[in-house]
Amino acid sequence: MRGRVLLLLLGSVVAAGLSFGKPMDKGRLTRSDICGECHRDIFDMWQRSAHAKAMEDPVFQDAFRDTRSKEGEAVSRVCLGCHAPAVEFAKDAELEKKITWEGIGCDICHSLTAVRMEGTGPKLVLEPGPVKRGPIRDAVSTGHDVAYSELHTQSLVCAGCHEFANSDGTAIMTTYSEWKGSESAKQGKTCQLCHMGRTKANVVDPKVKRVPGQEVNLHEMPGGHSLDQLHKALTVSFQPERKGDELLLDVRIANRGAGHAVPTGMPGRRVFLDLTVRSSDGRSFEERKVYGKSFADASGKTITRDSAYFAKGVKLETDSRLRPDEQRVERFRFPIPTSATAFVSVKLRYEHSPTGGPENRTSITFLSEDRTLPPSGAAKP
Ligand code: HEC
Ligand code: HEC
Ligand code: HEC
Ligand code: HEC
Ligand code: HEC
Repeated sequence: MRGRVLLLLLGSVVAAGLSFGKPMDKGRLTRSDICGECHRDIFDMWQRSAHAKAMEDPVFQDAFRDTRSKEGEAVSRVCLGCHAPAVEFAKDAELEKKITWEGIGCDICHSLTAVRMEGTGPKLVLEPGPVKRGPIRDAVSTGHDVAYSELHTQSLVCAGCHEFANSDGTAIMTTYSEWKGSESAKQGKTCQLCHMGRTKANVVDPKVKRVPGQEVNLHEMPGGHSLDQLHKALTVSFQPERKGDELLLDVRIANRGAGHAVPTGMPGRRVFLDLTVRSSDGRSFEERKVYGKSFADASGKTITRDSAYFAKGVKLETDSRLRPDEQRVERFRFPIPTSATAFVSVKLRYEHSPTGGPENRTSITFLSEDRTLPPSGAAKP
């Protein structure tokens, strides 16, 4: 008799998932390596993604430590809402569980049932458990229950973490709303179309189930750290001209390939247009345009650290980013005599400095074009 009570007690402890509990039980998030046992190809792609590194990434960790020491515990918890959302569900305040360290794992996205657009930014509504939600209408799985989800085919599924206003209501990250107002959105081009293109691979290991078609959505989701994506984003054209002793240079720069502003996301990201003009008679000029968004902190100082955007009293200073579909003409004039040869060089560079210093700086030159103009006097009769 006593034995049975004990067993019952033990049984309810297990059912409550306090110490053991099976993966995919109701209310329980499952680790991505368990999903990877069957969804091997997708798991490999995901492991290379920024999502998989959102928490363990040393660049994030530096900024996170910076936040804890300079802004305090409450602000640092805001970071985890997007970089390690499992913390809340796995009740891992001490940041000790493996699932916390996998950043944005499979089960975060595939347990999403809704994204609510609310005051200070969207909220993720998660129902972890036996049902995995995705874009396949006729999926049948022995591994877990499945449900077709329209949400997963829409941009809204990404909005939960790619849109944010702080507790004062100041918009900090606006990728989703930038997209909503874009030509891409009107044409039905979703985030998934540009960041999760279809690629040849197995939805599940063929040993588990043969799925015809053999195509999946790219789970690497490349962004601003990818040279390929940066190439797609902007186009640049220029035709230097001479007018008397002046060199006229109109640079047309257009955001054609990104369905949102360039740069987008965390404010500290910037794109530089760098111009160098030299002449055969020894003159040399440098010009620069910066595309970015800057905020000031409560004391009015320009913010340079990612950790500081989330504090109270933050205000937008400037926004010179290239809006989706925008074409801008930057005009430059240089005093170069017609008798001299001119060498023109135009470069585009993406830069991000999450902690404000050089230690974690990303810098990618993604366009570089040179032009030489012979003396124009020589060509005249
Ligand atoms: C035991 C093997 C197995 C495991 C483990 C497994 N899956 Fe699956 N999963 C499948 C099979 C089989 C399918 C069905 C594929 C089909 O019919 O096209 C599937 C389908 C899916 C789908 C598509 C659902 C739809 O309707 O679009 C998603 C999403 C999914 N799994 C997510 C996950 C996640 C997240 C995990 C880990 C928490 C996981 N799976 C673990 C075998 C598995
Ligand atoms: C649960 C939160 C969350 C969801 C949902 C989410 N993301 Fe992210 N995403 C992040 C975080 C956090 C990072 C930054 C990780 C890092 O580098 O530290 C990121 C990074 C990215 C990047 C890479 C940016 C770069 O700098 O290279 C892209 C692209 C991206 N996400 C696209 C998407 C798309 C598309 C969706 C929807 C299908 C989506 N994300 C859904 C949180 C999320
Ligand atoms: C940032 C969110 C996000 C993460 C993380 C994520 N997925 Fe997905 N996944 C999606 C979205 C969105 C789709 C649907 C894309 C579409 O149809 O446009 C999808 C599609 C799928 C599908 C259906 C087949 C396909 O590729 O269309 C499976 C199966 C799947 N994911 C499994 C996984 C597994 C396993 C992991 C972890 C290794 C994972 N996903 C991680 C967002 C995510
Ligand atoms: C028409 C194609 C297109 C669509 C639609 C699109 N993107 Fe992008 N995205 C790009 C390109 C190209 C880049 C690279 C340029 C850049 O970093 O700004 C990019 C960059 C990013 C980055 C990296 C920012 C950085 O500077 O590191 C994130 C995050 C991102 N996109 C998220 C999203 C989300 C979320 C959506 C949907 C709301 C979306 N994208 C819709 C093409 C697109
Ligand atoms: C609303 C969701 C959200 C919150 C809250 C958030 N982040 Fe992020 N974070 C992102 C996304 C999305 C990216 C990547 C792409 C982008 O810029 O849109 C990112 C990128 C970063 C990066 C750049 C990583 C790299 O490798 O370039 C750092 C550093 C970072 N976040 C630090 C923080 C810190 C520190 C906090 C808290 C003070 C925080 N984030 C809060 C969503 C969020």
